[in-house]
Amino acid sequence: MPKGQQKKTPLASSAPEATQAFAHPAEAEFARILDFYGIRWEYEPHSFPLRWEGDQVAEAFTPDFYLPQLDLYVELTTLRGGLNREKHRKVRMLRRIYPHVKIKLLKKRDVLRLLAKYGYGPIGPDELPEIDRILIPPPRLQERVAELARLVEDDYRGLEPVLVGVLRGVVFFMADLVRHLNIPLVIDFLSISSYGQGGSVRIIKDLDEDIEGRHVLLVEDIVDTGMTLKKVLDHLQGKGPASLKVCALLDKQARRLVDVPLHYVGFEVPDEFLVGYGLDFHQRYRNLPFIAIVKHEALA
Ligand code: IMP
Ligand code: MG
Repeated sequence: MPKGQQKKTPLASSAPEATQAFAHPAEAEFARILDFYGIRWEYEPHSFPLRWEGDQVAEAFTPDFYLPQLDLYVELTTLRGGLNREKHRKVRMLRRIYPHVKIKLLKKRDVLRLLAKYGYGPIGPDELPEIDRILIPPPRLQERVAELARLVEDDYRGLEPVLVGVLRGVVFFMADLVRHLNIPLVIDFLSISSYGQGGSVRIIKDLDEDIEGRHVLLVEDIVDTGMTLKKVLDHLQGKGPASLKVCALLDKQARRLVDVPLHYVGFEVPDEFLVGYGLDFHQRYRNLPFIAIVKHEALA
């Protein structure tokens, strides 16, 4: 996406298809972890000729996986020593003949460590049994938060805005957002309690700042039905700010019941229950560094 463009990013809601037949169980396991992280993969997509006899290819190497987002080939190693020596030899040849090709030889137990290097791991699906898969991985989150900050910064330069967050979910997003804002600003928080589905919203901790005549940007983690946001906006409007806008990281538009203006939106998200990066499920998972989808059976 071009820099600074205010464009909502739709995210696919369907899980990746798992119809691939693998030669080895470790490969299926690797594909499952990649699917969990939303990392696209191709299985054995390319053969690299390594040795020629005349104009005939006498030896070739076909890495197990190619990960287009990381521009990386991965060859999984097995426990059988002889086979591994052969793989190491072929990888060395491949690197010599095709120096621009990135390839990693990987033991199964090192998979999460490798992904962590790219900003993904090190938490795997087995440690998060209630999580179906990751919807927005950490690098994409950080990239989008920085883009939002650029837009906010341009609009609020010289206005010394008050950024208001609704506790508790927003603290992660707020903290990352304001660190990208190189303009004078003030932050403040309010705390609310909601009663049941679509029930009433009560302010249990009000702002500390006086926002009358000031430019207020309400920062929200997720807008679902819009009921909470509507209530909070009415409350803030009553204090007489010079302007009042909304910056929401996630927009679950399919469930909207109340029309609320969203001036900055990070991602449009599908109608799923999401956790991580501040969002909770019974107060858990707020600390996950990504946004993930809770399994439907866990919600029942
Ligand atoms: P709304 O009033 O329906 O828009 O609900 C907004 C609030 O509900 C958010 O501030 C969250 O606290 C919570 N919420 C809505 N959807 C989710 C979700 O998918 N995961 C976690 N919390 C959510
Ligand atoms: Mg909230």
